[in-house]
Amino acid sequence: MRRRCLLAFALFAVPVAAAHAQSSASTGGPDLRSPTQGDEVPYIQTPQAVVDKMLDLAEVGPDDFLIDLGSGDGRIVITAAQERGARGFGIDLDTGLVETSNAAARRAGVAERARFFARDLFDTDLREATVLTMYLLPAVNLQLRPRLLAQLKPGTRVVSHDWDMGEWRPDAKAVLEGLTKPVMPIQASTVYLWIVPAKVAGAWKVQLKGATQESMEIEFAQRFQEISGVARRERGRTLLQSAHLRGAEIRFAVIDETRRQSEPLHFFGRVFGDTMEGTTGAGRRWRAERKNS
Ligand SMILES: C[S@@+](CC[C@H](N)C(=O)[O-])C[C@H]1O[C@@H](n2cnc3c(N)ncnc32)[C@H](O)[C@@H]1O
Repeated sequence: MRRRCLLAFALFAVPVAAAHAQSSASTGGPDLRSPTQGDEVPYIQTPQAVVDKMLDLAEVGPDDFLIDLGSGDGRIVITAAQERGARGFGIDLDTGLVETSNAAARRAGVAERARFFARDLFDTDLREATVLTMYLLPAVNLQLRPRLLAQLKPGTRVVSHDWDMGEWRPDAKAVLEGLTKPVMPIQASTVYLWIVPAKVAGAWKVQLKGATQESMEIEFAQRFQEISGVARRERGRTLLQSAHLRGAEIRFAVIDETRRQSEPLHFFGRVFGDTMEGTTGAGRRWRAERKNS
C-alpha cells in the first residue's frame, strides 16, 4: 500500500514538475495546478528547512494554535511548540505515526502543547486553529478549501507545502531550492500562505460619525480575498477604489465624483461578522452594518 501511494505521489509530481518548469518560464512564477490523480496521500516528510520556512511565513508565535492535517512524524507541530512556543495538535490516519509523534513530543518536552490524534482530516474540527498546515495533494487541498473558508476564523493563516488551492490565490509564497526530497523529482519546495478572508460580500449600511452624520450604502463583491464594491450616496453612485481585505482588516476609498478634484475618502477598519468599524484617513469614526438581503 505504502509503495503504491509513494508511486502515486511521484507520478503526480512528474507532470507537476514539468508544469512547474513550463509555467515558471511563461508566467514568471510556478503554477502547480494540475489534473487530480487520486487523493490517497502517502507519508512523505517535509524537510526541516521547509518546516522552518512554513512557520516563518505564517509568523508562528506563542499565541498561536497550530493544526497540522496529516501530521506524519509530528515535526511541524513539535517544531512550532519547541521553537516558537505555540500550542496545537496534529492528526493522521496512521496510528503508528500518531504514537511516534506523541513519543517524540514527550522526548522534546512539549507533550502538553503538541498532541497527536488518529483521525481523518475531513472529520477534524478546525475552528480552534490560528495556523493550519498541510502537505497533502492538490485534489485534497481543493476538497478541503470550502471547509477552510467556512470553519476558520478570518485572519487564520493556512500554509501548504508544495500544493496550491486552485483559484484561491496565495497571499505569499516562498521557494526553497537545493533540498533533498524523497520521491519528488524536483529538489525544491514551494510554500504557500493564505490568510482566511472575512466574509464581506453583500450590502452594508455605512455611517460616518462626527459633527455631520453621513451615511451611504456599499455593495461588496468578493472572490476569496479579492473585493470590489459600489458606494451609493445621496449624490450618486461610485466605484470603490483600492478595496483591500486581509483577514478581517479592510480598507477602501470612496471618491465624491460630484466635486471636482475632491480627495478620496479613505476607510480603514475591521470586520466583526455582520459589523465593521474603523476610522477614515481624516480620523473620523465609521461603522457599517450588514443589510439583510
Ligand atoms: C505527505 S505526509 C505529510 C506529513 C507531515 N505533515 C509533514 O509535512 O512532514 C501526509 C500525511 O497525511 C496522512 N493522511 C493522508 N490522508 C489522511 C486523512 N484523510 N486524514 C488524516 N491524515 C491523512 C498520511 O498518513 C501522511 O502521514
